[in-house]
Amino acid sequence: MEDQVEEIKRKTDIVAVVGAYVALKKIGRHHKGLCPFHSEKTPSFMVNEEMGLYKCFGCGAGGDVIKFLMEVEGIEFREALERLAEKAGVKLVSRRRDDDDERSKMLEVMELAARYYHWLLTEGNAGAVAREYLKGRNINDKLIETFNLGFSMPSWDSLVNYLIKKKGYKEDLLEKVGLVSRKQNGTGVYDKFRGRLMFPLQDAGGKVVGFTGRVLPALAKEDEPKYMNSPETALYHKSRMLYGFFQAKKAIREKKRVILVEGQMDCISSYAAGITETVAVGGTALTEDQIEILARLADKIYLSMDADEAGSAAIKRSVELAEKRGLSIKVVQIVGGKDPDEIARKSPEKWRELVENSVDVYEFVMNGAFKKYDVNKMDGVKKITEEVVPFLAKIENGIVREVWAKRLAEKIGVATKGVMGEVEKKMAGKQEASKVEVKENEAADNKQVKLSRRLIGQLILRQEAVEAVAPWFVGVKVSGAEGKLISWLLENRENMPVEDLVKEIPEELREVAGESYMAEDSEETPGQKEVEEAAVQLLREIIRDRKKVLMEEMNKARQGKNEEKEDEIFAQLNELNKKESKIIAFLG
Ligand code: UTP
Ligand code: MN
Repeated sequence: MEDQVEEIKRKTDIVAVVGAYVALKKIGRHHKGLCPFHSEKTPSFMVNEEMGLYKCFGCGAGGDVIKFLMEVEGIEFREALERLAEKAGVKLVSRRRDDDDERSKMLEVMELAARYYHWLLTEGNAGAVAREYLKGRNINDKLIETFNLGFSMPSWDSLVNYLIKKKGYKEDLLEKVGLVSRKQNGTGVYDKFRGRLMFPLQDAGGKVVGFTGRVLPALAKEDEPKYMNSPETALYHKSRMLYGFFQAKKAIREKKRVILVEGQMDCISSYAAGITETVAVGGTALTEDQIEILARLADKIYLSMDADEAGSAAIKRSVELAEKRGLSIKVVQIVGGKDPDEIARKSPEKWRELVENSVDVYEFVMNGAFKKYDVNKMDGVKKITEEVVPFLAKIENGIVREVWAKRLAEKIGVATKGVMGEVEKKMAGKQEASKVEVKENEAADNKQVKLSRRLIGQLILRQEAVEAVAPWFVGVKVSGAEGKLISWLLENRENMPVEDLVKEIPEELREVAGESYMAEDSEETPGQKEVEEAAVQLLREIIRDRKKVLMEEMNKARQGKNEEKEDEIFAQLNELNKKESKIIAFLG
């Protein structure tokens, strides 16, 4: 498997793959374009053919061609790999070949079932009743095609006959994909979906993995559930499913936002109203897996809900998950209809307006609490605080958190301090303190990291420089992955072309190598002098940091009246000063 991944990457032209999504221009060694993962006006998105990597210096997105496809299409590793394998003409062999064969059989039969249902809806005589129903709900032919809608016959064996008798599939397979149920007496199977409007559930790549069926009023029997879903199968996992994602993903990626609705009909009507970046969760609470999938493409999630749902457990959970992934949440308030479908069907414009007028989730929760409780009563204030504060405590960004705390305080008519106090009580207080400390070191680290990366990029480009620079680094420790990579390059950077060098670089250092290399985007290879200067600047920075540490130690030694130690550190400092002067002299 590992080898195959490498083979596929080797045989794939990353520039061609990325080029299908981004207009790329060759500039020097790299290709440059507008980043598909964030909106920008000047290109900071780079692709490098030799290394097989992309990197955006604006938003930080980066990786190999597989990761690119996963992120841009919102698909899983396996799916991305399969697509690239197909293009590259590599036949994927899996260690569990039987599993793979079975999986493709399952997908095949699902595809066939979807086509059968679709045919019944669009062409079949019995489908007239479903066609009428859809007309009444303003679902036109185009939408029927886009969402591949279908109709299941009101009979116990229509699909069974088609797939088993006519096409020769096995009962077992149909049972495994959840299209049929076994008869009570154990002999034979019967159609699970009967007389229903069929919504195929597609994965991110458009493959049918399950179905939802809605009863048609004209055919409905009593005691039948309105909606019926496929059971969990090897193909279909409810917790990962987002209805309409395949149709919406392009718009989600472009607009960087996704509108979440509850039902399939809401999704289709919203899409029809021009909000094509809509997906449905299908009547369940948002899961971590679903957020994960959406976070690859969007940075804002719009929840649509009734005003009286403010403070509900479902939003709480969504907010928590979204904050963890750095997504912001907005709320589209459902007014003027019972659900998005009803609103969008009556007036597409009205629905679009509601979406554009969405409010930040914190505002929504706050407004909800103020409507529910009386702020002029002590008890009301208590209730409001109890409802809102837990939300504010989940906000990851400290500044944003304080802004909301301030708004809440203003609305109640107290000082911000009081509210912040409550918010902080809710959070794990200690964690915060340690974060501040980390921040201080980050600034220094950042400078070293930047200089290290500069040197790495140049060492990759200019093999000749290694010899000159290597002796300077003897006994010098450069920190982090960058440090490891510099040592590695100084030792192993022989006269190799970049595409060979990449394969030699230890796996865990390749990302740093690629990013550093792509940051060097001037058209010319740097001169010897330039590389030496980069090395010197880095060394100077390291010396400064080291000096700072030694000074502190010396102060401590002095306070502790440890003269011996003080002298020792003093000597070290002198040594460093000498080195620094030399370096300054070199820099001229
Ligand atoms: P609703 O009952 O609100 O239906 O359930 P709806 O979306 O408005 O559907 P229409 O407009 O009557 O056709 C909301 C969602 O909950 C799921 C479905 O995904 C539905 O869209 N649900 C509902 C089920 O899974 N099973 C059910 O029996 C009912
Ligand atoms: Mn509805």
